[in-house]
Amino acid sequence: KLSWVLTLGLPLGLTVSGFPVRGVVGQNVTLPCKYRVNHQKDITTMCWGRGSCPSSQCSQTILRTDGWRVTEHHSSRYRLEGNLAQGDVSLTIVNAAEADGGVYCCRVEIPGWFNDQKNNLELSQSAPL
Ligand SMILES: *[C@@H]1O[C@H](CO)[C@@H](O)[C@H](O)[C@H]1NC(C)=O
Repeated sequence: KLSWVLTLGLPLGLTVSGFPVRGVVGQNVTLPCKYRVNHQKDITTMCWGRGSCPSSQCSQTILRTDGWRVTEHHSSRYRLEGNLAQGDVSLTIVNAAEADGGVYCCRVEIPGWFNDQKNNLELSQSAPL
């Protein structure tokens, strides 16, 4: 069976590559993304998009939250199953298929200029085991 490998983008184009994510191609896969919530006031809007994070918002947005719940999503295959109020905004892709491979942006919209937390994650398939 093919499984998934996740590569995290860092600033300056460096990457931490190649750790396996739970999930086999054709089943659900979860892309981890978290931010720190110490107080309720830290809870903030976020979006997931395809392609790396642009200078604001998400390109090809696949879902958005108001901090507490999903307010917009473009396919029922994209779900947030973590505890949003604790900053767990990990994305689950239901029945992830080959076409779901690629770069994803998790953007947490921390108030203030240039404060957004931008995580670029690349989902690719590992060699068959
Ligand atoms: C995948 O996610 C869907 C929706 O949350 C769920 O109904 C299904 O049981 C999950 N499949 C697996 C294999 O966990």
